[in-house]
Amino acid sequence: MCGIVGCILKDNNEEVAPILFDCISKLEYRGYDSIGLATYFNDKIHIKKDKGKILEVDKKLNLADMPGNFGIAHVRWATHGDPSKLNSHPHVDENNTVAVVHNGIIENYLEIKKQLIKEGHVFKSDTDTEVIPHLIQKYMDEGFDLEHSIRKTIEVIHGAYAIAAVSVNEPDKIVATRKDSPLIIGLGNEGYYLASDSPAILKYARDIIYPEKGEIVILDKTGVVVHDEFDNVVNKEIETINWTPEMAEKEGYDHFMIKEINEQAIAVKNTLTQKDNIQQIIDEIGDIKRICFVACGTSYHASLTGKYLLESLAGIPTDVILASEFKYSANTLDEDTLVIFISQSGETADSLKALDVANETSKTLGIVNVAGSSITRRAKYVIQTQAGPEIGVAATKTYVAQLTSIYLFVALLSNNQELLDELNKVPDYIAESLNDVEYIKSISKRYNFARDFFYLGRGYTYPTALEGALKLKEITYIHAEGYAAGELKHGPLALIDKNIPVVVVIPPGDNYRKTMSNLEEVKSRGAIVLAVGSSDDESLKAKANDVIAINSNVGEIIAPLVYVVPLQLISYYITLEKGYDPDKPKNLAKCVTVE
Ligand code: AGP
Repeated sequence: MCGIVGCILKDNNEEVAPILFDCISKLEYRGYDSIGLATYFNDKIHIKKDKGKILEVDKKLNLADMPGNFGIAHVRWATHGDPSKLNSHPHVDENNTVAVVHNGIIENYLEIKKQLIKEGHVFKSDTDTEVIPHLIQKYMDEGFDLEHSIRKTIEVIHGAYAIAAVSVNEPDKIVATRKDSPLIIGLGNEGYYLASDSPAILKYARDIIYPEKGEIVILDKTGVVVHDEFDNVVNKEIETINWTPEMAEKEGYDHFMIKEINEQAIAVKNTLTQKDNIQQIIDEIGDIKRICFVACGTSYHASLTGKYLLESLAGIPTDVILASEFKYSANTLDEDTLVIFISQSGETADSLKALDVANETSKTLGIVNVAGSSITRRAKYVIQTQAGPEIGVAATKTYVAQLTSIYLFVALLSNNQELLDELNKVPDYIAESLNDVEYIKSISKRYNFARDFFYLGRGYTYPTALEGALKLKEITYIHAEGYAAGELKHGPLALIDKNIPVVVVIPPGDNYRKTMSNLEEVKSRGAIVLAVGSSDDESLKAKANDVIAINSNVGEIIAPLVYVVPLQLISYYITLEKGYDPDKPKNLAKCVTVE
């Protein structure tokens, strides 16, 4: 979590701070506790940093106004040490000779810090990161250059990191390295860039190099050199990102989240173009006896839908495992198991850990939105979802794009032409579901009072209920639980009363009658029922307090792709009612690069 950027301009007379500020602002979704910039000018490292959101800190410090043509910057999502000015990055050694930005966690920082204090180093912050500039300075004092001081530093530190450093003793360069945290290098017309994620630098560079673990990258105004652990120059492949800078802008919307909700029809349409690639992957993979999905959060809910589809439509036994709990299931894997990793970012630490384990025994497939991310580089097969950059912390369009890939995979695996035909209609269904915004806004005003919600779904839409509840929790801070509709009577029904709205996801299909009975159960215990159902369902309209209508042709099998849209909208508008920022929920970051 945290985001880092760095830039060195080719022209000595150009100032880098406005560019650093622009780039780091694009990474605010990775952390918004604090922000800081360091530039080098006239034999000195200049630093501006403080806690707070980017605009607040900028108002106070005027961050784009710093001298120098190269520097580094950071947005923080605190792990070690409170959000505070002292704990903000960049961190420096006591002589201000080395400045460092870091994304990740240094697990053994306490013992290193103790030793460095014994050696006379003076620390100012509570962070794990601060050991890094001190170690670099120590090795530079021993006579090593910046690159080799960083090399020696990463021999000592354990954990996950993407690091960028500048030094007054070796000016005009930025040196960076990574292990288990993302880092990309951009080759632009005006200069060279590094960043945790591509939206930061799309405006300046779309030709990208992806450094691997342990490689050291040296950026100066003449270019970029990458060295492996034996100091050999590595000839890195340059990949061009096909996302445009505009795709990572709000483009007139109030928030990224609502922009991204509105982009879902196109995200599905674009992901459907992956059909031939998916067919090729299926052909290459060959026989599969079991499928095991591994994912977190929203991606876990997409995976759960995958289980329902694979088992009911393709007859393949399927498990879904939370990535953070994966190690307990790892010894059940074998070469006949396909392990599918679903992740929008492709950088989730829990998923990456599990992927390394699964790669040892099984075929692995990543379904990932961010091209060039770690999962795309480590999984044996990759399906690229085509949602474009997603900036809002709450996943929306990447979720429907993940679902689209899974549906395509299942339809092709089971030769299900009917399902393929239905999928082609989904973009229109989604577009139509967005017509009801005014009604959903008005509902949100009325449901805003509640402190707890239940979301019910059955079969294919049980994961949809889980996702609806997660969306509500993460951005409105209202407690919500997703439940299998039939399971409620086994305990949670005791909680139901008039203060707990129950959202029932009830598409037409085989499960309809049973779900309707569950709706009646909660209704008769006084619950307010908000249903999402078919537009021609008159009995639903008679029974529920409110009904959000979806095109009656959307049956229960494809319902997860469409019925989730109003659930996202409800969460979005309740968040606005409460006066919160839906793009930056407290305590959360877009990309979770710590375990
Ligand atoms: C979704 O709204 C959340 N922000 C979160 O649950 C997310 O889905 C989870 O952290 C997994 O991320 P990934 O898809 O990038 O792996």
